[in-house]
Amino acid sequence: MENAENYFRKDWVCIRGVPMISAFSENWERIDGFQALPEDIIVATYPKAGTTWMSEIVDMILASGDVHKCQRDFIHNKVPMLEFSAPNYVEAGTKKLAATPSPRVIKTHLPVQLLPKSFWEKNCKVIYVARNAKDVAVSYYHFDLMNQLHPEPGTWAQYLEKYMAGEVGYGSWYDHVKGWWEKRQEHRILYQFYEDMKEDPAREIQTVMHFLEKDLGEEALEKIVRHTSFQAMKENPMTNYNSRATSFFVNKISPFMRKGIVGDWKNHFTVAQSEAFDADYARKMEGSGLRFRAEV
Ligand code: PPS
Repeated sequence: MENAENYFRKDWVCIRGVPMISAFSENWERIDGFQALPEDIIVATYPKAGTTWMSEIVDMILASGDVHKCQRDFIHNKVPMLEFSAPNYVEAGTKKLAATPSPRVIKTHLPVQLLPKSFWEKNCKVIYVARNAKDVAVSYYHFDLMNQLHPEPGTWAQYLEKYMAGEVGYGSWYDHVKGWWEKRQEHRILYQFYEDMKEDPAREIQTVMHFLEKDLGEEALEKIVRHTSFQAMKENPMTNYNSRATSFFVNKISPFMRKGIVGDWKNHFTVAQSEAFDADYARKMEGSGLRFRAEV
């Protein structure tokens, strides 16, 4: 049995040019060779875009709004993370998935080009959640501070430079959101925005239900909206990740369920940082057709 500390604060390891969490990078054949099932539902995101939120929503939809059923296990067991791995310490995501009954809901942060090809061959449904670049930067910075599987992020100013250069886990936010956006033209991908979900959760949950061909009634919808609100998920031990505090998340540095709002970037970016970010953003996103809202 490895010590958890052996995995702490290691530098990223590149997988085909994409910086990856060192602990996850070993034995990458397990990802490339992963065998999907046609009923698999993938929740794909760049980190900190609302993965946990969407995962719980999908689990609630599959359970037809039955809160009791959704309390059966922790979110990281109900919705295993495909690439998660810490050999001899925590069971790999691929192994967990092999023991998960179908339909499996699978979490991943992989950029589109690294998704195992079996998912495309089996025509699996993908729900991609995207969140505006500035709020992701702030959320990711706090996550790097508290998640010891990641390298130390340095100061906020240092971190922002790295983030803009794509020198953070899973690489460039810009490439990630654009890559998945383009892929939706040839595959069953529902592309959702965190800001839309905050603005009108019922409307967005209904869109997800429709995509999953599970049109539940008003009562179930209301239950899902309530059970997946930020406050409810923060108080719910099955979704708030407090149980991971003893291993690699240091929640007293920053809780996993931190703020859950749109526009927190305004509390962190200086005016100069914001202007430089916007100019760089315009260059990188030009012609993509993607429109994000950094406030609602
Ligand atoms: S991870 O580690 O990449 O899987 O994190 P992820 O779940 O994608 O993103 C975490 C951020 O999402 C916020 N969050 C929510 N916002 C609104 N409503 C709900 N229900 C919800 N659940 C999680 C969480 O607080 C993180 O954002 P920040 O801005 O850090 O608060």
